[in-house]
Amino acid sequence: MDTTVTPFSEVLRRRTQRSHGDPAGSGFLRDLLGGRDVDVADHADLLGQYAFVYDALERAAERMADHPVAAPFVTSQLTRMPAIRADLEYLIGPDWSELVCPLPATTAYVRRLNEVAATWPGGFVAHHYTRYLGDVSGGQLIGRLLGERFGFETNGVLFYIFDQVADPSGFEETYRAQLDAAPWSAEEQERVIAEVELAAALDRGLLAGLDARRGPNAGPTAVPVLA
Ligand code: HEM
Repeated sequence: MDTTVTPFSEVLRRRTQRSHGDPAGSGFLRDLLGGRDVDVADHADLLGQYAFVYDALERAAERMADHPVAAPFVTSQLTRMPAIRADLEYLIGPDWSELVCPLPATTAYVRRLNEVAATWPGGFVAHHYTRYLGDVSGGQLIGRLLGERFGFETNGVLFYIFDQVADPSGFEETYRAQLDAAPWSAEEQERVIAEVELAAALDRGLLAGLDARRGPNAGPTAVPVLA
């Protein structure tokens, strides 16, 4: 009899795999990473929307920093807002925050983050995992491709560079061990998995919103991120 128990981190990865990583599912990401009719303004546009998402997530992290279940996941090694601000300042200018408006889909994403991530530890971890573990693993490839495409080594793609994470594979391993150590019942694990799926769907909505704004004949725009 096989008594091997699949660790929660592995169950989570397998169960949510299909809802991620397929650039074909997002015209915007696919084009950004190699398609046509995309320029650096689209890259800035995505970061502009992520500014709202990470701001909400990192505010939630501050509130969760003392919670015994959420605390192990909270680390300044991951904090993205300073990098996003610096990228947007570089890409758009010092007045970027006056020019960037949240899309309705971004507002929906932020609303969900504000509802669950600051009050429910499992919900916080679900959103934290969806963003940061993706950023530390697949995000590295995305950052490299964008850097090559637009000619940025650091400034402009700082969001994708985790200079406080010296060993990304080791970091992911520790993160998975923390997921496995979380004191969640089977029912709570299901809620966390469902929230990760929702987070991925909210991200897809954000990308679809950016895609729709570009329109079918999207080309270079003079003003990158004005709604
Ligand atoms: C072009 C788009 C994308 C590419 C090329 C990509 C690529 C990857 C790759 C190569 C990995 C490592 C896979 C592994 O270790 O098994 C990964 C992991 C991950 N990605 Fe993505 N990804 C993309 C989009 C996304 C999106 C949109 C999300 C969610 C919003 C996401 C969330 C994650 C998460 C949470 C992980 C960690 C899975 C785990 O190890 O538990 N990714 N991605």
